[in-house]
Amino acid sequence: MYASLLLLHKLAVLTSISVFFIRGLGVIYNREWVTRKPVKIVPHVIDTLLILSAVGIVLMTPFAFSDPWILIKLVGVLIYVGLSVMVFKVAKSRVQQGMFWIVNLALLFLLVAVAVEKQAWPF
Ligand code: HEM
Repeated sequence: MYASLLLLHKLAVLTSISVFFIRGLGVIYNREWVTRKPVKIVPHVIDTLLILSAVGIVLMTPFAFSDPWILIKLVGVLIYVGLSVMVFKVAKSRVQQGMFWIVNLALLFLLVAVAVEKQAWPF
């Protein structure tokens, strides 16, 4: 059960990052497919799975929501959602979209490093 949940979390992370990367390029380069309904709905489903699996993992292990590296991931995932809204809804120019997209990718890189090292500051 725990192994399946961890696998689900890792798959959700991989899919979420890939979809954000490609969808971001689609928005920056003004592609028509980014306006289609599935492209807008699928990320919500993946990110819900990502967060639910994360909560399940914490509940099933001795890790606690108060552990500094878990707190960083919790806050980080909220910032990830916020920056995604900036890229896909708020930013109007290509430069703004590109800047929020790159900052969000850097954040994701940090969160993966935090997860692998299990340290609030993994570098
Ligand atoms: C975008 C957000 C997130 C990313 C990129 C991410 C990434 C990852 C990755 C790559 C792993 C596997 C690490 C490894 O096997 O070495 C992992 C595991 C884990 N993540 Fe996340 N995660 C995110 C959100 C969260 C959140 C919000 C929480 C807590 C509420 C969380 C809690 C955990 C826990 C407890 C593990 C299990 C560590 C273990 O047992 O090895 N993650 N995460």
